[in-house]
Amino acid sequence: MGRGCNTSRLPRVYNTLICQCKRGFIFKFSRLEVVAVGNDRPDIASLAPRIALCMQRDQHRLRSRLRALQERHSGSPAAPEAVALLAAEIDRSAQVRARRLVALPKPVFPDDLPVVQRRREIADLIATHQVIVLCGETGSGKTTQLPKICLELGRGAGGMIGHTQPRRIAARAVAMRIAEEVGTPLGHAVGYKVRFSDHTRPETCVKLMTDGILLAETQTDRFLDAYDTIIIDEAHERSLNIDFLLGYLKQILPRRLGLKLIITSATIDPQRFSRHFGDAPVIEVSGRTFPVEVRYRPLRSDDPEVEDIEMLQGILDAVDELSQEPAGGDVLIFLSGEREIRETAEALRKHHPPGVEVLPLYARLSATDQMRVFQPHGKRRIVLATNVAETSLTVPGIRFVIDPGYARLSRYSPRTKVQRLPIERISRASADQRKGRCGRVGPGICIRLYSQADFEGRPPFTDPEILRTNLASVILQMKAYRLGAVQDFPFVEPPDYRAVRDGYSTLHELGAIDERNELTDLGYALARLPVDPRIGRMVLAARDEGCMEEVLIIASALSVQDPRERPMDKQQAADEAHKQFRDENSDFMSYLKLWDFFHAQAEHLSGSKMRKMCQANFISYIRMREWHDVHQQLREIVGEMGLLHAGEGAGK
Ligand SMILES: Nc1ncnc2c1ncn2[C@@H]1O[C@H](COP(=O)(O)OP(=O)(O)O)[C@@H](O)[C@H]1O
Ligand SMILES: [Mg+2]
Repeated sequence: MGRGCNTSRLPRVYNTLICQCKRGFIFKFSRLEVVAVGNDRPDIASLAPRIALCMQRDQHRLRSRLRALQERHSGSPAAPEAVALLAAEIDRSAQVRARRLVALPKPVFPDDLPVVQRRREIADLIATHQVIVLCGETGSGKTTQLPKICLELGRGAGGMIGHTQPRRIAARAVAMRIAEEVGTPLGHAVGYKVRFSDHTRPETCVKLMTDGILLAETQTDRFLDAYDTIIIDEAHERSLNIDFLLGYLKQILPRRLGLKLIITSATIDPQRFSRHFGDAPVIEVSGRTFPVEVRYRPLRSDDPEVEDIEMLQGILDAVDELSQEPAGGDVLIFLSGEREIRETAEALRKHHPPGVEVLPLYARLSATDQMRVFQPHGKRRIVLATNVAETSLTVPGIRFVIDPGYARLSRYSPRTKVQRLPIERISRASADQRKGRCGRVGPGICIRLYSQADFEGRPPFTDPEILRTNLASVILQMKAYRLGAVQDFPFVEPPDYRAVRDGYSTLHELGAIDERNELTDLGYALARLPVDPRIGRMVLAARDEGCMEEVLIIASALSVQDPRERPMDKQQAADEAHKQFRDENSDFMSYLKLWDFFHAQAEHLSGSKMRKMCQANFISYIRMREWHDVHQQLREIVGEMGLLHAGEGAGK
């Protein structure tokens, strides 16, 4: 065996370890063999196998150079200097890889997690298959333990272990957790990259990122050579990005035979992923879960105009009910957005005796605030979370869940032809995920603020985003990512042919594609705007015309239901009241008038007076607030894209 190689430093690995000795010899170790594969006086024939030991990201380039060398000298021997030069470069890359392999963190595993209990089996499946699907209850250890199992297999050396999350907040939180578990500072062996900030370095071997980031990387790294393993986490969420990635990976896997792909999913139809990847093995880890008692506490009235008040009351009542429970423990409440979280937090603080800690958890929260939910605490806690806590983040210590049954989902309306972000009733699968969050540490109680009949009448699963999205927007994004034509792309679930056709015609109409269906300059600009293409088109025009403030108000009005009400029995009175907003020239201008009217009143009226004022003017208070929220989101997106002119940034 090689002089200068110290085998005691070898990590426990199943596959190959390469190691270079002082005199330039490279050795290849595997469990069964040790082979010398090169030395410092190489002949050209020895180079090809040595390239296989290089960093994945260098291999393609080195092979091309070798091929060029061979072709240039076909018939005559290659110039020894050129061969030596190439050999030296190959060795450099192989050394980098060998060093990375030796430096891989040696993870230790907490033994109470279901994924850890099955870790040998999972490791063997990964070692013997290119693609596997891992499915298990939330909290079973998929997200935090899988990368460690991969590290133990020696993965992460030839390329990074790329680990995607549907949300920015989860990418960072998971990176922190894994870094802590393997005992390295964040951003070293374990790092993360989200939009605008990259916390990785050359020695990083596990990289957390949003799925959007990985998708964007396909533009500069077509075969994803930066990675030797990719984990697509939470694939059941089936966002467009996830569907794009699953199709893209299917296309490149045959050309990246060394790439391992692991798909994880909550226990929601994992077979679909398996079929997509040629019947990849599915491993199901069943978690230790405790029984969860479900209590249905429907709200008293279903008048949509007071629903938010009723909801708040329902939540307070449920919290009171749970505080009677002898067991004690933390409460997790699912809310549909930041505003709902703020309002509920305020109501809880007013309502509750001191001694209870109320913590918000949503995507835009600062990193420090997000991390508070993971810190140990003495007081009883009430965590108010958006969907992020449904599957992506495990909030520790939850004994009780309150589920109002709603979430904000982006959805395309074929009737109005715009994409909206309505608050919708969640599916049964989502409701059961939420319920499951309180059965991890002991028996739990889940209070649903709707009836059992309501629950049973809900759709079983949430539709994947591709079925909820304007195909025009899907086509635009696919073109911008150069993913090819929608109809040829290997989608897990291809969209309907008619929707695709409508999508193309919308894009023609907007001038986003030309007669050959290629993106125009305008199309490229539109693809960068993460809003419905029709609204995007308005925004781009507003930028050119210098009327962004007004257009943002109108565009967001088009994304919500008309707040003006015209009840059957009071049509005349309603018309009379709406006269003050009418504009002779344009319906759009009436939106502006209505907006100004509402916001002028809001400056001096309290919430309940605003409701009364709206009622008197035949305006829906709830829809006005919805409009306001959508406006704020749109404004933020436009601001991030640098499309707001100076002075427009501070506004309403
Ligand atoms: N940031 C964290 N702080 C404390 N505990 C955590 C953190 N992240 C995960 N955990 C714990 O690790 C366990 C495994 O979580 P995770 O790997 O996220 O499971 P899964 O991905 O299967 O839902 C959970 O029981 C959870 O309590
Ligand atoms: Mg997870």
